[in-house]
Amino acid sequence: MNGKLSIVMSGIRPTGYLHLGNYFGAVRNYVKMQEEFECFFMVADLHSLTTHPDTKELKLNVQRVLAENVACGLDPDKVALYCQSHVHETAELYLYLNMLAYKGELEKTVTFKDKARQHPDNVNAGLLTYPVLQTADIILHRAIYVPVGKDQEQHLEMARNFVQRFNHRYGEIFPEPQAFNFGEELIKVPSLDGAGKMSKSENQYATLYLSDDDEMIRKKVMKAKTDSGPTEPNSAKPDYIANIFQLMQLVSSPDTIQQFEADYDNCRIRYGDMKKQLAEDMVQFIAPIREKAESIRTDEKYLRELMEKGEEKARQSARSTIELVREAIGLNYY
Ligand code: TRP
Repeated sequence: MNGKLSIVMSGIRPTGYLHLGNYFGAVRNYVKMQEEFECFFMVADLHSLTTHPDTKELKLNVQRVLAENVACGLDPDKVALYCQSHVHETAELYLYLNMLAYKGELEKTVTFKDKARQHPDNVNAGLLTYPVLQTADIILHRAIYVPVGKDQEQHLEMARNFVQRFNHRYGEIFPEPQAFNFGEELIKVPSLDGAGKMSKSENQYATLYLSDDDEMIRKKVMKAKTDSGPTEPNSAKPDYIANIFQLMQLVSSPDTIQQFEADYDNCRIRYGDMKKQLAEDMVQFIAPIREKAESIRTDEKYLRELMEKGEEKARQSARSTIELVREAIGLNYY
């Protein structure tokens, strides 16, 4: 890897299946970044223990999320794609940072309060210090850019605070990380029921997963909400219709979109035809990713080599940071 490039780091939770929202909102950005930056992408298996103590499905979930990201275009030869638990230096840095994180600020974190409310019987210290572990992930590679969504902004602000405290107390070791998404507004992928965006916690039928088979994709798209069509030329589109056009923007050809726009404007649109077209374009888009992910997911040898390669790259970077950190803190006794 080229040490002169800016460093990018992000974490991917190994819970749930990737959907179209994840693809356009996150993974596509990672794939773009791998061409321009030195990238570390990590499967946050340790973070998942804060809310998912039952690990029966962990291995399968980790394998799947790795396979899906590679199928979307992440190249394990261009980036360091690794598992958090394989890079033990993370845990060491997490411990040091825990001495710089205050109970009061951790208790005020929005994600902590939400999770504590959802699981009142398991408000563990790992959950409280989740943002500290996330900071360790990022600064372990002295990364400056972190491609994440809005929901992670508070964690990044905390990371900057921890970095400032560390640097102030022990010396300037770490740069301050910031969210980064190519300066564009993050693309929101609307859900198929006209309410909100695609997400794994919402209506499963309104979200298209990269693992959905062709029939499932068709079924979901055909169920999208429509009405009997506009009665006045050039009318404004109701939200649920605008959403269908927006989904078309993601996967259909400009000609196709133009044709349906024109049909809409002169009140000749047939939503059944439009949804059929969208369904076929979605199938064309998702099927190759699904098939590639499936073949990777079931190739234990490939996955093992992939994880080893990622671990090797990540630990090399981690070891050099930890060496600086130990020295800065004063833990170098000989
Ligand atoms: N907390 C992030 C999420 O919920 C996942 C994550 C873990 C992460 N470590 C990270 C994101 C480091 C960016 C950088 O999606």
